[in-house]
Amino acid sequence: MKARIGIIGTGWVGTSVAFSTLLAGHAGELWLNDQRGDVAEGEAMDLADGAAFYPACDVRAVPLAKMREADIVVLAAGRNGRPDESRLDLLRDNARIAAGIGRALAGFPGIVLVVTNPVDVLTRVVQAASGLPPERVIGTGTLLDTARLRERLAVKLGVSPQSVHALVVGEHGDSSVPLWSAARVGGVALRDWPGWRVDEEPALAQAVRRAAYEVIRRKGATNHAIGLVTAELIGCIVNDEQRLLPVSRVQDDGIALSLPALVGAGGARPAALPVMDRAEREALVASSEVLDRAFGSLSG
Ligand code: LAC
Repeated sequence: MKARIGIIGTGWVGTSVAFSTLLAGHAGELWLNDQRGDVAEGEAMDLADGAAFYPACDVRAVPLAKMREADIVVLAAGRNGRPDESRLDLLRDNARIAAGIGRALAGFPGIVLVVTNPVDVLTRVVQAASGLPPERVIGTGTLLDTARLRERLAVKLGVSPQSVHALVVGEHGDSSVPLWSAARVGGVALRDWPGWRVDEEPALAQAVRRAAYEVIRRKGATNHAIGLVTAELIGCIVNDEQRLLPVSRVQDDGIALSLPALVGAGGARPAALPVMDRAEREALVASSEVLDRAFGSLSG
């Protein structure tokens, strides 16, 4: 039986997740919910009108309570950032929404995918409010940052992104950590690749961190890439692919951030970590501290 996918929040991101998921054919039923009920209905109707162009899927707007019958619920509700705001600046506004939805999903048997920013802190908020096991509350985290890094490396090196194996971990945000020392192009370490210069790494890392701001400055939000990333995660879960991906989840120390995890039908299970050099280990600790402080500020 094809999966029942619920998306809470039908703004820029939620509708891109819906569109990407339909085209990928991951859902047999796609349920939309938004506090603006008429918007959710309109989006469902608009997507349903395109039914001839994607694999069979019943698309409809549903009440929030119906989401408990889904296999996967995507949290995309909340406000997006202005060009002058970091993702953490959205925390107060969006944490309230995330906590309410987390409480509504207490005892939910499926998997929750958190997309709303700041995604790492909100992954921790939803996991705490719902009481669901950490492996079943997954944030899209640095999967998008990893895609951005791979794309930029592919262009720079003149190879397919499929041949670039590089990871970004930590915060999906200003303290994200590219793991240069573990990056490979095909079977060759990036730092052994002909012409690669280590002194170019800081600028490339900053370009990845600034990517969303540059898009938001021009069009007001990002949605297409995160929609594709989230649909990829949905496919990984629906098809039990057990892929090793950098996604956000509450780690053993209680802090949610992105590290490589095995993603499949049961959610995101911890996986072996690449060896990091000292600079990367220190940057990951710093990123973790940023996220822990942000979460702590909610009780202040
Ligand atoms: C971005 C948003 C999803 O990085 O945080 O595009």
